[in-house]
Amino acid sequence: TTPLNTAAKAAGKKYFGSATDNPELSDPAYVKILSDSTMFGQITPGNSMKWDATEPSRGTFTFTQGDQIANLAKANGQLLRGHNCVWHNQLPSWVTSGNFNAATLSSIITTHCGTVVGHYKGQIYSWDVVNEPFNDDGTFRQDVFYNTLGQDYISIALTAARAADPDAKLYINDYNIEGTGAKSTAMVNLVKSLKAANVPIDGIGVQAHLIVGQVPSTLEANLRQFTALGVEVAITELDIRMTLPATDALLAQQKKDYQTVIAACKAVSGCIGVTIWDYTDKYSWVPSTFSGQGAALPWDANLNKKPAYDGIVAGF
Ligand code: XIL
Repeated sequence: TTPLNTAAKAAGKKYFGSATDNPELSDPAYVKILSDSTMFGQITPGNSMKWDATEPSRGTFTFTQGDQIANLAKANGQLLRGHNCVWHNQLPSWVTSGNFNAATLSSIITTHCGTVVGHYKGQIYSWDVVNEPFNDDGTFRQDVFYNTLGQDYISIALTAARAADPDAKLYINDYNIEGTGAKSTAMVNLVKSLKAANVPIDGIGVQAHLIVGQVPSTLEANLRQFTALGVEVAITELDIRMTLPATDALLAQQKKDYQTVIAACKAVSGCIGVTIWDYTDKYSWVPSTFSGQGAALPWDANLNKKPAYDGIVAGF
């Protein structure tokens, strides 16, 4: 069957990609599949470019782990997505508990995004500069950044990222913005306001951590409303989980669901690529996060392709 990046490119997309993580790179069978650029034309570090990994204490930057992923992408001839600059999770306590005033936190964000994005300058296709800014009802998440700076933290981060790597596409990335609804409308309004204020913004990342049998029927229409803003869209963290155990019926529905998601991206010209949140159930984040759920990815835990794989090919 057709390799997935080959299928994506034949459909006019820039890439089909996968997240990966440093501990997995000691598994040769895993790395062999990951490194095939006809299968994956793009990779994303699942953890090693996050704030806790890159600036664990103020002003002390560590890039060893992130560099390992960047070097792998380079060696394999794959595009790289940077993930992420500003997020409420995996944030060191010196940031969350520092009680910084607005001016100080602004400068901390500028230094963090500027240094991390600058370190990878020239190596990154796109950056998730801001991750998960919204609550599900479309209000801004009340994290340390918003509580201190209001929504200005978003433009501060984007401006610093643009200055540090003018060639990287700058994204805002979130979940539960696959279908239309309050949270997607909030994203539309945010992007409109950033564009009106001449703040650099190039893309909307749609995470797409979905549930078997529950792909939103408004997915394609929603991707269209995003691209109508004059930004590109990418599906950045696709997985489609089920309540375990996996049955033939669930795996068959999952195949359809993967096909539906891929076909929606294919149909929207501004949807430029799809990334799955790792490729094998062996290393999925799902079982440890959603109790009793799993089997969310197109390869099983033994690195064998599941029906979902053929669903992806069919969707392209
Ligand atoms: C997850 C990683 O996959 C896990 O290894 C980690 O323990 C927690 O974070 N949305 C995101 C990703 O933007 O960064 C998250 O990644 C999954 C949800």
